[in-house]
Amino acid sequence: MKKRVLAGMRPTGRLHLGNYLGAAKGMLALQDDPDYETLFTVVDIHAITTPYDATSLQQSVRDVYLDYLAVGLDPEKSAITVQSDLADLITQLSFYFSSVMTVARMRHLPTFKDKVKQHPDYVTMALLNYPLLMAADILIYKAGMVPVGIDQEPHLEIAREVARKMNEQYGMDFPEPVRFATKGEYVPSILGEGKMSKSVEGSAIELGDDLDTIVARLKKAPTDSGKGETVPTEGGVANLLQFVELFQGEAKRREYEAAYVGEGIRYGDLKKELAEAIFAELQPIQERRRKLENNPEYVDRMMREGAERSRAIAEATVAEVREKMGLRK
Ligand code: TRP
Repeated sequence: MKKRVLAGMRPTGRLHLGNYLGAAKGMLALQDDPDYETLFTVVDIHAITTPYDATSLQQSVRDVYLDYLAVGLDPEKSAITVQSDLADLITQLSFYFSSVMTVARMRHLPTFKDKVKQHPDYVTMALLNYPLLMAADILIYKAGMVPVGIDQEPHLEIAREVARKMNEQYGMDFPEPVRFATKGEYVPSILGEGKMSKSVEGSAIELGDDLDTIVARLKKAPTDSGKGETVPTEGGVANLLQFVELFQGEAKRREYEAAYVGEGIRYGDLKKELAEAIFAELQPIQERRRKLENNPEYVDRMMREGAERSRAIAEATVAEVREKMGLRK
């Protein structure tokens, strides 16, 4: 039996290099692995649990969806859905799940408390229910594996609890989903501190950047005199060297390391070559993205077909839950 994996992407708009190397590439590998059956979903209903802009939400959904197709998610191999296309079934299931979980359990989640601090005027029922909506995303397909970061562990714990309770009280056969790490790279900020992040201005290279933009962004990466007794292991120079390794290979990195303790690195040249190497990797992705942008009917059809394929599985699960919970089928 294939292991069923569900990956959820928030509609954050276009991806950057960190998303690509850190998450998307790992997901791509899974869809080509015969041991796995992969499902992908852009979770737009989750977006409404915190303040958001209704007029641009579907543009963000489409941007993420197109970027994932452009980097190589293949609708022939994986079902790729937009969550709200299955809103009727997923929100319905999450309501049934809310009947086996207590308010106290939900209120004490660290992720909930963080959001309460962030948006004290937006503590809604939807926010409290966020983890149950996520449990429904996963369990509606009876997916046992979920590739997410460690910050999502409390939510998966909820999904496992829901699965256990539904199995014990109603005789369902939900798996207890586990988090697993896909093979991804840690992608540092180009500013030298922390990781590449959408919310840190200037830290990222976007998947859609052209060569000039990449050059301009790398210009802002902090450097030093280019010479020293030992090669820095953290900060701007260390991060630049990591990018060199990611895009130009380990041998190139060692050349620079030798130069650092020898005749010195010329960062102008390093950055220029690095920008070219990064752009070379992004160019085919950008080309595929342009083709998709010029063919909106194809994208619409992929969204529709993804929803139809997933709907068949989701309907069966909801029907089973309704019957076992004593509701009309
Ligand atoms: N909570 C997840 C996050 O913030 C997003 C998400 C929602 C998700 N539903 C999911 C991830 C289902 C995986 C599976 O990243």
